[in-house]
Amino acid sequence: MELFLDTANLEEIRQAVRLGVISGVTTNPSLAAKEGIGDLEAYKSAVLEIARLVHGPISVEVTALDAEGMVAQARDIAAWHPQVVVKLPSTVAGFQAMAVVCKEGIRVNQTLCFSLNQALLGARLGVAFISPFVGRLDDEGHQGMALVADIVHLVRRYAYPTKVLAASIRHPLHVVEAMRVGADIATVPFKVLMQMTHHPLTDVGIQRFTQDWEKAGLARSRP
Ligand code: E4P
Repeated sequence: MELFLDTANLEEIRQAVRLGVISGVTTNPSLAAKEGIGDLEAYKSAVLEIARLVHGPISVEVTALDAEGMVAQARDIAAWHPQVVVKLPSTVAGFQAMAVVCKEGIRVNQTLCFSLNQALLGARLGVAFISPFVGRLDDEGHQGMALVADIVHLVRRYAYPTKVLAASIRHPLHVVEAMRVGADIATVPFKVLMQMTHHPLTDVGIQRFTQDWEKAGLARSRP
């Protein structure tokens, strides 16, 4: 399973890239706003900087709410950089925009996907990625990961050329479950990526190896 980083923070991306496991980045207007980005020009500069750091898909979301506006923004955003994937929401306007831009060869990440029916519509329109939002479904008392599993089944059963991108990941167990149900990608916040590196028994193991090594060195240096 691939790992994308879910952030617009350049420092987090720089640090995550050093781990060598990140093959893409997802952003959204909230993540951009958190970094002080408030217009498409600033969003573009940040995305071009991200493209210098990560050699994989970078998802950038439209902010328009009507289909015409989304199509215009999608065309503009897609031209920023070859790595850019345009995020379009799972709404009537979003599907109408997908119907236009997918045919033009623009790669789309269908975002804010909360049902199998929405996923089917995106798959039929030829989106490159479908993003079920696991954490937000869990927050509402639903089983977010069950939707990921259903979408994986849908995409494989009918051989749609789309990747299932588990999004709204809140903790390391979500990543494990995404693997178990066969998601192609999980997009993780930096904090979760760091949590994934850690296990207390690894720390204890290192401590013990270091102590034993030092003891052996001391014993050998004694006359
Ligand atoms: C993914 O593409 C979204 O940006 C993200 O995963 C949303 O996560 P949240 O529900 O934690 O905001």
